[in-house]
Amino acid sequence: MDDVTFRSFQPADYEQLKRIMVDAFDGVSIDQGIEAEYGVVAGHDWRWRKGRHFDDDVRRDADGIIVAVIDAQPVGFISTWIDHEAGFGHIPNLSLTPECRGKGVGRRLVELALQRFRDAGITHAKIETLVQNEIGNRLYTSLGFREVARQIHFVAEV
Ligand SMILES: CC(C)(COP(=O)(O)OP(=O)(O)OC[C@H]1O[C@@H](n2cnc3c(N)ncnc32)[C@H](O)[C@@H]1OP(=O)(O)O)[C@@H](O)C(=O)NCCC(=O)NCCS
Repeated sequence: MDDVTFRSFQPADYEQLKRIMVDAFDGVSIDQGIEAEYGVVAGHDWRWRKGRHFDDDVRRDADGIIVAVIDAQPVGFISTWIDHEAGFGHIPNLSLTPECRGKGVGRRLVELALQRFRDAGITHAKIETLVQNEIGNRLYTSLGFREVARQIHFVAEV
């Protein structure tokens, strides 16, 4: 995609990126799965819960958020943070507006995240995706990520 540029996060991006992320995770959200099973918990729906993950990203390392921009509008982002002591770069979130998908922007964002890790002297990167997220599974393996474990999320009423 020719007209896409990438830049670091700015506080003015906050609302737009949070909304893009919550919309993007419709269908691939653990909290949405919980809500489908148990209904809304404590008055907060899955969108509110997913939105908090973006708050976590900003709080943990706002400079580690790389934003994709088209026509001066943010269209998605990848969040990163680095655990220097453990030697790992982490990618907690990656989201794009539906119109911008399938054109290589997601791949480019992951490549930029990996470059950020390399620039910081980091040798390994970690990312998680759901089994049902076909795009995530294909994208990450095609970029050299290898599956090392599967996890099951259990939830109970107590
Ligand atoms: C994940 C996401 C950011 C990928 O961005 P994207 O720009 O659409 O992806 P790209 O165009 O760069 O495609 C990269 C690779 O993803 C895979 N892919 C893309 N679209 C796909 C589709 N519809 N079905 C299966 N795989 C697909 C392919 O492996 C593709 O590489 P290829 O074109 O060389 O075969 C985007 O689809 C998105 O926002 N999804 C919703 C949120 C989400 O699932 N985030 C990740 C959670 S772990």
